Amino acid sequence: MTSARLIVDADFAISDLDRRVFGTFVEHMGRCVYTGIFEPGHPTADANGFRQDVANLTKELGVTIVRYPGGNFLSGYNWEDGVGPKEQRPRRLDLAWFSTETNAFGTNEFIDWCRQVGVEPMFGVNLGTRGIDDARRFIEYCNHPGGTELSELRKSHGYDKPHDIKFWCLGNEMDGPWQIGAKTAAEYGRAAHETAKVMRWVDPSIELSACGSSNRDMPTYARWEYEVLDHAFDHVDFISLHTYFMNPHDSTEEFFGNIELLDYFIKEVAAIADAVAATRRSQKRIMLSLDEWNVWYKARGHDDLRKPGWPEHPPLIEEVYNTEDALLIGGALITLLNNADRVKCACMAQLVNIIGPIMTEPGGPAWRQTIFHPFALTAKYARGRVLRTLATSATYAGKATEEMAYLVSAVTEDEATGQVVIFALNRHLTETMDLKVELRGFGGQRQIVEALEVHHPNMKAVNTKDAPNTVAPAPIKSVSLDGDKLVARLMPGSWNVIVTAPKA
Ligand code: AHR
Repeated sequence: MTSARLIVDADFAISDLDRRVFGTFVEHMGRCVYTGIFEPGHPTADANGFRQDVANLTKELGVTIVRYPGGNFLSGYNWEDGVGPKEQRPRRLDLAWFSTETNAFGTNEFIDWCRQVGVEPMFGVNLGTRGIDDARRFIEYCNHPGGTELSELRKSHGYDKPHDIKFWCLGNEMDGPWQIGAKTAAEYGRAAHETAKVMRWVDPSIELSACGSSNRDMPTYARWEYEVLDHAFDHVDFISLHTYFMNPHDSTEEFFGNIELLDYFIKEVAAIADAVAATRRSQKRIMLSLDEWNVWYKARGHDDLRKPGWPEHPPLIEEVYNTEDALLIGGALITLLNNADRVKCACMAQLVNIIGPIMTEPGGPAWRQTIFHPFALTAKYARGRVLRTLATSATYAGKATEEMAYLVSAVTEDEATGQVVIFALNRHLTETMDLKVELRGFGGQRQIVEALEVHHPNMKAVNTKDAPNTVAPAPIKSVSLDGDKLVARLMPGSWNVIVTAPKA
């Protein structure tokens, strides 16, 4: 048995939580759109062709915002191809994924889907093959009320009211040599600055996110962020971060070090943004948008990334997630909560089939991957503000740090309901954790209203079409609350959520 202590005080908060951190991502890639969210003729499809099994799982996942249409796909995309009468839409080669794009699904279908599932749309503009002129035309099409060629074009397509898209990404991974139209930091910084300025002239209510590095290991990382923000600081609100967690040593203990690496990444990018602010003596704070993040290391072979013959929506990077992936995702979500003062938006990449929490079979069922569960539970219960905590537990040495605490934790308080929620990952793989929590300053009598664990003794266990519930939440067997003292036994290798609320 290992032990851990967590102290939380109602007077000490990190920040209000921006619930846009529970975003995901839908790219025109593989089977994310086609046979993912959209499959006309599927037994559950509605008149729009939207799979209702996937729509319902998206709602259950608790998604708040969805990024679209890419990804690498964005950098070669002509938005005009995907609007208007379907029979007139062109088929095109997609050079991002070496597929044929039919354009049967586009901007207006995505907006309809977002409205149906109750999520906010986040759009990107193509700064790869296109630029400022395309961006101003696209936002006029989407957000201008009427009386101009492009707003009237939208109306003629059946959308009288503006789409009112608030969150816009200025391109995607523009530092990556794999990107269609990759740029240097100076080229991109200038393009982002001018594009953001003009888009905001069309609609002053929008928020804009500049591309950060494609990942923390890029050779230009950090210098890229500085130079881009040095150009675009005045016109952007966010800088993006992308990270896909790797498991190069096939060691669960080392794999969990990605939690620390994510924390370093967030703090470094925030520091760079603040350094740019300092050169201007500016109090403006650029916020962080982690608009692609997930585990992705199994489906990385050439065959996973590309199929020959320019197929339509081939199966690509269909990573199957296991127990340790779910635990890491739970730990990463805790890191996002504890950085709620700077991370105001995040998109798990992607939503369905492509490295997704939801899997589907064409014409068949949809099911929840292991990583679905910590995401859904955090999105359900993390509300209000994130509190500061003092956490103490034994540690182990890893590559990320010599002192990896066995306990990874965060606490939120929803002042509207009085719920105080503890999120706790026990990284010890062989010992149960005896967790003692002191809930100071919340007043009154409290009770536990929910206590669930995500756990499986086999770290490699997966959910499949035929066994979709192998890894699923279950009640924590031993948990109690006496006054302001909570005690719980956390299983070895488990992610846990404990919800307390005032007694009626
Ligand atoms: O999510 C898959 C791909 O990963 C995205 O298209 C790209 O932005 C990233 O490299």
